[in-house]
Amino acid sequence: MNILVTGGAGYIGSHTCVALIEAGHTVIVADNLCNSKADTIDKIKQITNGKIIFYKIDVTDEIAVNTIFATHQIDGIIHFAGLKAVGESIEKPLEYYYNNLISTMILCKACQKYGVKKIVFSSSATVYGNNVVPFKETMELLPTTNPYGETKAMSERIITDIVKVNPYMSAALLRYFNPVGAHESGLIGEAPNGTPNNLMPYITKVAKGQLEKLYVFGNDYPTVDGTGVRDYIHVMDLAEGHVAALNCISEGVHIYNLGTGQGTSVLQLVKVFEKANATEVPYEIINRRPGDIAECYANVSKAAKELGWKAKRGIVEMCRDAWIFEKYSELSKESDIEVAATKER
Ligand code: NAD
Ligand code: WQD
Repeated sequence: MNILVTGGAGYIGSHTCVALIEAGHTVIVADNLCNSKADTIDKIKQITNGKIIFYKIDVTDEIAVNTIFATHQIDGIIHFAGLKAVGESIEKPLEYYYNNLISTMILCKACQKYGVKKIVFSSSATVYGNNVVPFKETMELLPTTNPYGETKAMSERIITDIVKVNPYMSAALLRYFNPVGAHESGLIGEAPNGTPNNLMPYITKVAKGQLEKLYVFGNDYPTVDGTGVRDYIHVMDLAEGHVAALNCISEGVHIYNLGTGQGTSVLQLVKVFEKANATEVPYEIINRRPGDIAECYANVSKAAKELGWKAKRGIVEMCRDAWIFEKYSELSKESDIEVAATKER
């Protein structure tokens, strides 16, 4: 299939491009690079030895989006493009509502106009709010505490309504849990701007000595050791989940949790990281982070049953690959990164 991947230069998008190309699809990326770099496209080519078509466009620009659909026969889209920082969405709500919702609407409009059959959307476990774990696709969505989460719930609704009136379309709304890790080549991975907000990239910066210590947000939750529990999923497993969804869906809207179904606490993750990478991650316990929930993990039986997809990589691989990417990310020559990453394993 010819697949339009919006946000394909970003963290999850780039790994999904690799999985799509390896599965034999033709990939067309649309990304404005507001949170990514153009050289990621070259790295995808290098990993896959394949071809990729790249448009540097903003997907809130309807004319630019339509030009892509008019130029290529698009069979399906995977819509990753969006702003994703929860805290920033509270500071800049309009930017989040505008970017994340207008992009979804423009893409839906183009899919309708050009008769595109398959839509895959990046949603988030955040739409479950404070439901009881494990989260199941059938649960009622609870209000989130931030505009980012609202844009995910609203985008799900917009896509659902569009598919209802276009019976030839099908959609997969994929609710990701906590994606971590990197492609095993060490060439692509998560490279947030500034100080990371998320746990794994913060840990890798501490291990590298770029940040002094990890601040653990609370140890008084009702969890195994008092620290927050999350369902971490290797980004390559997540990427492969998209390929499975694209292949399997037909008729109507299908919602899938993409996680491992396993909860890991902050301190458990730190310990595994230290052991897997023979390194140290000093930490200090501080207060809870406002808006955090105690536990978040998925019931993954629907994706296993209907998509035949299951996460294969464990916490050790997630920690190892995140670290390899971080460690060698400053090497400028791609061949040096590959040699270093190969030696590492
Ligand atoms: P990312 O920031 O690395 O990737 C998003 C990409 O979209 C970036 O390359 C950015 O340049 C691009 N982009 C943003 N707005 C755009 C626009 N208007 N036009 C064109 N390109 C635009 O983020 P990610 O972690 O890869 O997340 C991808 C998607 O998955 C997002 O929709 C995010 O909300 C969702 N998601 C992410 C997580 C996570 O923890 N990373 C969890 C759940 C859901
Ligand atoms: C994980 C755990 C923290 C940083 C966020 C979004 C969610 C989704 C994924 C997009 C929690 C603790 C963290 C630190 C810490 N993104 N922590 N010290 O909050 O589960 O999910 O990213 O859709 O919507 O909310 O991920 O990695 O920030 O936190 O102790 O410096 O690590 O309290 O228990 P979170 P996270």
